[in-house]
Amino acid sequence: MQTEIAPHGGKLINAFVSGDAAAALRERAQSLPKIHLADRRLSDLEMIGCGAFSPLNGFMNRADYDNVVVNKRLANGLPWTIPITLAVTSDEAESLNIDGEVALVDKFENILAVMHLEEIYRYDREREARLVYRTTDEAHPGVRNLYRRGDVHLGGRIQVLQERVDTTFPEYRLTPERTRRAFAERGWRKIVGFQTRNPIHRAHEYITKCALETMDGLLIHPLVGATKDDDIPAETRMKCYEVLMQHYYPKDRVMLAVLPAAMRYAGPREAITHALVRKNYGCTHFIVGRDHAGVGNYYGTFDAQYIFDEFQPAELGITPLMFDHAYYSPSVGSMGTDKTMPPGAEKVTLSGTKVRQMLMDGQIPPPEFTRPEVAQVLIDAMRAKKQS
Ligand code: ADX
Repeated sequence: MQTEIAPHGGKLINAFVSGDAAAALRERAQSLPKIHLADRRLSDLEMIGCGAFSPLNGFMNRADYDNVVVNKRLANGLPWTIPITLAVTSDEAESLNIDGEVALVDKFENILAVMHLEEIYRYDREREARLVYRTTDEAHPGVRNLYRRGDVHLGGRIQVLQERVDTTFPEYRLTPERTRRAFAERGWRKIVGFQTRNPIHRAHEYITKCALETMDGLLIHPLVGATKDDDIPAETRMKCYEVLMQHYYPKDRVMLAVLPAAMRYAGPREAITHALVRKNYGCTHFIVGRDHAGVGNYYGTFDAQYIFDEFQPAELGITPLMFDHAYYSPSVGSMGTDKTMPPGAEKVTLSGTKVRQMLMDGQIPPPEFTRPEVAQVLIDAMRAKKQS
């Protein structure tokens, strides 16, 4: 008998409204005040709507927001580490009424969702930056984005009218309900989720395969919401994952699906949310390697692993699989980490900048660093960009 892992908070949220109820809601929404959503806010909407952010059924009210920022928990005590909020300008908030409804629309004025406005509240950006990102430095991409947001939060439950807010990668855009069903159909009980925002290089491949050795299945789950400008775009990364799946992974034990979330680069805090979200998708285990969701030198290399000690395993309900820094050793002739290599093992050390330069020059980096098929996809993408 297949027993699925429980979603966070016990119940998978499904905020989609369909059929007659959707038609009525859409009709009513025509006359509501409108808030325009793009990029990150659209990602959050989709994540809430499909249940990936369960138990959240809307944008956070003040009690949840404050408790998340200060205590890494929702107001009811459930672990949650990243605020999921809808920020607007004071001007936008002026015309809105508490206990009223607001239509959330895209740039084409399509009505995506209706929000039941429960609270309008001000918040302290500097406090959020300090506690969530551990820095108030605006050079941090997550902090920079936070500082650009409006200064008022709208809190309340949402009802979503359009299942796919973003229409890219339709075949990979699986909701938590669908990944759960797919795992059950395959008879997988132990499933490890892998978060990534980069093309998979050999270290990624190594840790995912180490994990898979003791699991029934691996969910490669790249984040495809907004990332920082110098990250490789999701379309290119998806091509990399596809060639890698085709040549180097066992098709019957690995699934590729996308996570619609935007990246915060909040390191340790984001690692916890990344794990909880993957639990909602049905994963029982989650990989946390070196500097997970980090950027620059804001976090210690293993801070994203240490933060798991702040919670009881049962309240997280998904098991982190921690990995040391993985690398290729020419003297040993294999991938490994300091945990598995003999002392003094030689390491292939190629900086990301050096690899990028090689790719820009049309050179394939050494196979110990990246698979040639992946390198070729990246070279082609860089050439196409240069020509456009
Ligand atoms: S992240 O922002 O999504 O964390 P990335 O796609 O580079 O960035 O990493 C995906 C996962 O692989 C994270 O868990 C990260 O910690 C892990 N990882 C990346 N590189 C290494 C490495 N060389 N050794 C061990 N783990 C790694």
